[in-house]
Amino acid sequence: MKKLLFGALALGMLAACNTTTESTENTTDDALTSVASRKSCPSEEIRANLLATNPEAKARYSKIESGVDSFIKAKRAGRVNADGSIDIPVVVNVLYKTTTENVSDAKIAEQIAILNADYAGSNSDASKIPTEFSGVKAGDTKVRFHLVSTVRKKTTKTKWGTNDAMKKSSTGGINATSPSSYFNIWVVGNMGGILGYATFPESAGLWNDGVVIAAPYFGATGATAPYNLGRTATHEVGHYLNLRHIWGDATCGSDLVADTPTQTGANYGKPTYPLYNTCGGVSRSVMFMNYMDYVDDAAMFMFSAGQKDRIQATVASAGPRAGLRTY
Ligand code: ARG
Ligand code: ZN
Ligand code: CA
Repeated sequence: MKKLLFGALALGMLAACNTTTESTENTTDDALTSVASRKSCPSEEIRANLLATNPEAKARYSKIESGVDSFIKAKRAGRVNADGSIDIPVVVNVLYKTTTENVSDAKIAEQIAILNADYAGSNSDASKIPTEFSGVKAGDTKVRFHLVSTVRKKTTKTKWGTNDAMKKSSTGGINATSPSSYFNIWVVGNMGGILGYATFPESAGLWNDGVVIAAPYFGATGATAPYNLGRTATHEVGHYLNLRHIWGDATCGSDLVADTPTQTGANYGKPTYPLYNTCGGVSRSVMFMNYMDYVDDAAMFMFSAGQKDRIQATVASAGPRAGLRTY
């Protein structure tokens, strides 16, 4: 009985593999007999001996470890949240001359939260969606954003343009972080009248892939009216996820989305619903409250179901931005 109990105890300790810092240059026999008193774990030493002397075992070992690697990669490839949404990792690159341009961590968090609300359809002003469009609203587009890192760089540059200089260190900018697997945002001090600009999915993974936002329109707190609800980013991210301007950048042009009414052109300011346009002989209210129009931040508060389909096609496993799922 006593012997049996001791045996069980010794076995338990072997299984638990309690390692200590003491020297482990014992032989296998030594280790087994003294396990209860010395609590050492000889497994790796035994293995080292096996791998050094048995090439077949060594080959199996290598195969096992590469299998572990691909399992982890595959698991990450399913970068899907419990609710089915895709988790997009974000890198924010800040180029600043003044302290105001050096947007705070709090402001970056605020902007990410705005993106998450707008893309989930949980923005508080979603309640303003006209009944006519409530049947075609996207609701939750099933993409989410989370900040993985922030890169900051002081510059003497006072004005930036649309030539991507901010995206290369050789031109005074910050190089993108792994643009095929991370969504890069550059925040720059000033771009004149331009609030922001984006690359579309055909640029996926290229050095200049991502969106640029001028600091005064980044986040909401202290931002410049009437673009002070963080929706320049919502709009630019729409382009990044393959959404076109709702008017199709032409008179009665197409945005390749069936449920957004054709409109004569861009809308500005704060239009009131209904706003009738006639395209192809049909008069009906346009969806000016769509994030992909040019209205003020307070006047835009929805994506359509058709736009959601395009977003989903973009981040799908076989989509052009599938790389965002594997980081
Ligand atoms: N003009 C910019 C663009 O077309 C951004 C427009 C954003 N509009 C807004 N209300 N924040 O990419
Ligand atoms: Zn745009
Ligand atoms: Ca349309």
